[in-house]
Amino acid sequence: MAAVKRLKIGVLLSGSGSNLRAIMDACEDDRIDGDVVFVGSDVPGVKGLTRATVRHIPTFVVDYKQIGRNITGYADLMKTEYQLDQLQTYIRKSMGIVPPHITEPDKRVAWLYKRIVIENELLREIEKYEFDLLALAGFMRNFTAFFIDQINTDPSKPRITNIHPAYLPAFPGTNGYEDTFNNGCKVGASTVHFVDYGEDTGPIIDQITFPVFPGEKFESFKNRGLEQEWILYPRCIQLYAEDRLRVVEGVNGKRIVQIS
Ligand code: GAR
Repeated sequence: MAAVKRLKIGVLLSGSGSNLRAIMDACEDDRIDGDVVFVGSDVPGVKGLTRATVRHIPTFVVDYKQIGRNITGYADLMKTEYQLDQLQTYIRKSMGIVPPHITEPDKRVAWLYKRIVIENELLREIEKYEFDLLALAGFMRNFTAFFIDQINTDPSKPRITNIHPAYLPAFPGTNGYEDTFNNGCKVGASTVHFVDYGEDTGPIIDQITFPVFPGEKFESFKNRGLEQEWILYPRCIQLYAEDRLRVVEGVNGKRIVQIS
């Protein structure tokens, strides 16, 4: 019998990496027909990198903060091989990820130029590996269209997934559990979705919900949420490995995921 091709998974994270652990465990016990082939971080020294190293998985860091301090944005971008008109198209598509507190149009564009220079470094690291899927596991940065378009080559089969700690499209952003809890929601959730040009707006693959117990403290709620994430993300990655996910146009023109 021909050997089944295993999914090659690259993981990006910014912190503790408990979802990375769940994915690596699932690969090891064959709940995912795949292997983690690299782990990258935008923050040096985080626990997620150590978790990878102890399992002999190669790691790298692209230190967004440090690189950001040393570049001007536009001038550095002009040193890359990309054409200005091509970059301007990426900039137009990526406005949705610029932090809302940056209001002046020129500053919004400058923010994106800088971000593209950093992502160019990230791409160079990632391109050293052969991979099928890029799984964001607590990676706390949004991508520009420049980055996304170079990873996604087939529109019906995107290659970047993210796990978000809320019932999307409610509560996108960096504080999914806090927003859920502080709004008095009666259920918490986590969502795995493909990454598109917006912040946590991409086609939803699957979601898991759990009750908020009356009188429960936030830490307990969040910990129970994480335990659900460790079930949900491996399950979604296995669907990807089985090639059962397709992105199609939904009734209102929004792109949605069909599971076969
Ligand atoms: C998880 O709760 C994940 O859903 C969240 O960060 C945490 C990472 O935990 N991701 C986001 O908020 C993305 N917007 P981990 O490092 O222990 O896996």
